Amino acid sequence: MRAGDVQADLSKVLYTEQQLRARIAEVARQIEADYTAEPPLLVGVLKGAVMIMADLSRELKFMPEMDWMAVSSYGAGTKSSGVVKILKDLDTDVMGRDVLIVEDIIDSGLTLSWLKENLLTRGAKSVKICTMLRKPEALKTDISVEYIGYDIPSEFVVGYGLDYAEKYRNLRDIAVLAPHVYEN
Ligand code: XMP
Ligand code: MG
Repeated sequence: MRAGDVQADLSKVLYTEQQLRARIAEVARQIEADYTAEPPLLVGVLKGAVMIMADLSRELKFMPEMDWMAVSSYGAGTKSSGVVKILKDLDTDVMGRDVLIVEDIIDSGLTLSWLKENLLTRGAKSVKICTMLRKPEALKTDISVEYIGYDIPSEFVVGYGLDYAEKYRNLRDIAVLAPHVYEN
C-alpha cells in the first residue's frame, strides 16, 4: 500500500520507500564496519520491526542469525504504558553472543532499555540497538542507540511496520497519521 492509497488518513509523508531503502543501506555499511569478527544475532521486536528486519538483513553482506521477541508496549493507543511484558520470547540462547536489537521506533525508550538489560542479564556479550526512527523523548533517557535511521519530531507515525490499532503496517512509506484518525 502506498501513501496515496490512504491519503485522507495521513497529514504528511515523512520518508518514502526509496528514501528508507537508501538510508538502510547506509546503516548496513556502519553495522558491517563494526562487526568484523562475527555477525551479531539480530533480534527483531515484533511486530513493528518486521519491515526493517527484512530490508536491513537482506542489505547486509554477512549472514546473521535472526530471532524475534514480542513485548507489550502501547496496546491499541498512542501512549507508552511503561509496563513491559514478554509475549513471545527468543528461541536462541544469547549467552556469549553479540546481539543487535532491531526496532522500528524508540519513543520513551522504556521498552528498549528494559529489553537491553534483560538480554545482558541472560549473558549476552554485547547488546547494541538499531532503530529506524527515534523520537525526541528518547534523548532524555540515557539509553545509547548505536544505529539510527532518522530522528523524527514527536508525532504519531505509521507505515513501514508501524501501526495504529494494527492498521497501516503495510504502508510502504512512513507518514504522520492525521489527528482526526485517533482523536474521537
Ligand atoms: P517506548 O516509549 O517504550 O515505545 O520507546 C516504543 C514502542 O512504542 C510504539 N510507538 C509507536 N508506534 N507510531 C507507532 O506506530 C509511533 O509514532 C510510535 N511511537 C511509539 C512502538 O510500538 C515502539 O516499539
Ligand atoms: Mg515496536
